[in-house]
Amino acid sequence: MQTLQLKNVNKTFGNLKVLEDISLNVKKGEFAAIVGPSGCGKSTALRMFAGLETPSEGEVLANGKLVTEPDSNRVMIFQEHALYPWRTIEDNVRLGLELTNSPKNERRERVNRVLEKVGLDGFQTYYPHQLSGGMKQRASIARALVMDPEVLLLDEPYGALDAITRLTMQNELIKLWHGSNQTMLLITHDIDEALYLADRVFVMSSRPGKVVSEVQNEIPRPRDRNSVDFVKLRQEIMKSLDIN
Ligand SMILES: Nc1ncnc2c1ncn2[C@@H]1O[C@H](COP(=O)(O)OP(=O)(O)OP(=O)(O)O)[C@@H](O)[C@H]1O
Ligand SMILES: [Mg+2]
Repeated sequence: MQTLQLKNVNKTFGNLKVLEDISLNVKKGEFAAIVGPSGCGKSTALRMFAGLETPSEGEVLANGKLVTEPDSNRVMIFQEHALYPWRTIEDNVRLGLELTNSPKNERRERVNRVLEKVGLDGFQTYYPHQLSGGMKQRASIARALVMDPEVLLLDEPYGALDAITRLTMQNELIKLWHGSNQTMLLITHDIDEALYLADRVFVMSSRPGKVVSEVQNEIPRPRDRNSVDFVKLRQEIMKSLDIN
């Protein structure tokens, strides 16, 4: 079953053509990734699934239904962590529960459970400026997970992190996803990150963004970035991006 679909989507902002005839399908429970050069329209495409942007032409579907507005079942994690600096970590994570009027007596437990899941137990009363970059990103992920969404839309979540933290976070993300039934759609500039994490990688060309190839990645996890199969898929993606 398809959870997320773009059908012949075009998007223009004024005279600027950003997406051109994009079609893609992500199955339920799948980990999918989109890679492509800066400015090719990746965030725009993701925002459409989040109900934050509408196509100029074509259809955006979630579970077969047209996406017309944001829905707490599809939560986006933004390119830069978007925690409120004046709220503590637990108050930041609780935000979505407040906005959707979830039962008050469950909130604390749900927040604590999810903070434990992302390794932030004990940091409930800290403010964002008191956390490291990786911890802030974990808090952003916790804030999305607390909604127990069917779909997580991750926009370059580790772009601002150093290489070592990034690798750690990739392993953590796989652990969170395993056995969750969640559908993941991750945007990244990093071909290895896409191949390490995703079952399916959509490769986009520079603006106007088109899907130039779709790579099915069946390498068993945990994946070895130096294995013959991994290197082969990396070369395939680089070729479709015209990188030698
Ligand atoms: N609201 C908007 N109004 C006008 N132009 C926009 C708007 N949002 C995005 N764009 C333009 O659309 C193009 C694609 O932007 P988008 O943010 O989707 O790119 P991206 O692939 O996510 O890039 P990056 O990898 O740098 O994050 C850019 O040229 C941008 O200027
Ligand atoms: Mg972007």
